[in-house]
Amino acid sequence: MQMKDRIAFVTGAGRGIGRAFCRELLRRGAAGVVIADLDGAMAQATAAELGGLGLQCDVSDEAAVRAAVAAAIAHYGRVDVLLSNAGFGATELDLDDALAESNTVWTRMWQVHVMAHVYASRAVLPGMLERGEGCLVNVASAAGLLCQVGDAAYSATKHAAVGLAESLAITYGERGIRVSVVSPVHRHGHHRPRREAAGRRACRPAFGRAGCHGDRGRTRTRAIPDPDPPRSPDVRPAQDRRL
Ligand SMILES: NC(=O)c1ccc[n+]([C@@H]2O[C@H](COP(=O)([O-])OP(=O)(O)OC[C@H]3O[C@@H](n4cnc5c(N)ncnc54)[C@H](O)[C@@H]3O)[C@@H](O)[C@H]2O)c1
Repeated sequence: MQMKDRIAFVTGAGRGIGRAFCRELLRRGAAGVVIADLDGAMAQATAAELGGLGLQCDVSDEAAVRAAVAAAIAHYGRVDVLLSNAGFGATELDLDDALAESNTVWTRMWQVHVMAHVYASRAVLPGMLERGEGCLVNVASAAGLLCQVGDAAYSATKHAAVGLAESLAITYGERGIRVSVVSPVHRHGHHRPRREAAGRRACRPAFGRAGCHGDRGRTRTRAIPDPDPPRSPDVRPAQDRRL
């Protein structure tokens, strides 16, 4: 989908990858971006910097997501592109115990990395289906294609995000909805402590899963390699995977 004159709703856009998405969308001619973030002050500051509508929104709260999408539609008239990007990494890692993370972390990751995509998609899809076009982009991770050693909750929920996107693509693809997954490789933000802690064991393929879904021609997942990769031979970029 061409971004010119489109309206995008981007979650977790107060900083990091989400903010970079907003900047790029505007550079490509988007008519408006909604910068939604848990941190409302940061969302407002980024909106003031880039131009756009800044909104406080906890993506794990379906009512809050519906309200934010309603505010976006009231402001811009529609949402053409959903970039469901908000996410977080665990701060404490135990490389020798994949089950060490608390149930609280597991539940929060499930809400933010999976259900948030469901809530946001539910909120934007009716308008997109009515217009016969729209674009859903779920930001997962290379850990959603491979494995984030020491962080089972992160890996499992990011894998689930990829599976969810595939299901959405199969269900809505023929009605004009394009579904994509972006899978960044460790770079900055909340992943820095993890990368330092995990060192050479940072991100490995567990089962050689890449490509196992074959080509269904509807959704594309792409692991974006780090332009400045660490030297360790054990840290490998994920392969592109066409679903
Ligand atoms: N940075 C990396 O190297 C990397 C690698 C792989 C995947 N990712 C994924 O990319 C996405 C963006 O990562 P980033 O590095 O920009 O992270 P970041 O920590 O720099 O920014 C994340 C943003 O999401 C917001 N956020 C967190 N929880 C939220 C919630 N419940 N509701 C609304 N907003 C919330 C935060 O306030 C923050 O502004 C995440 O989904 C992350 O898992 C990042």
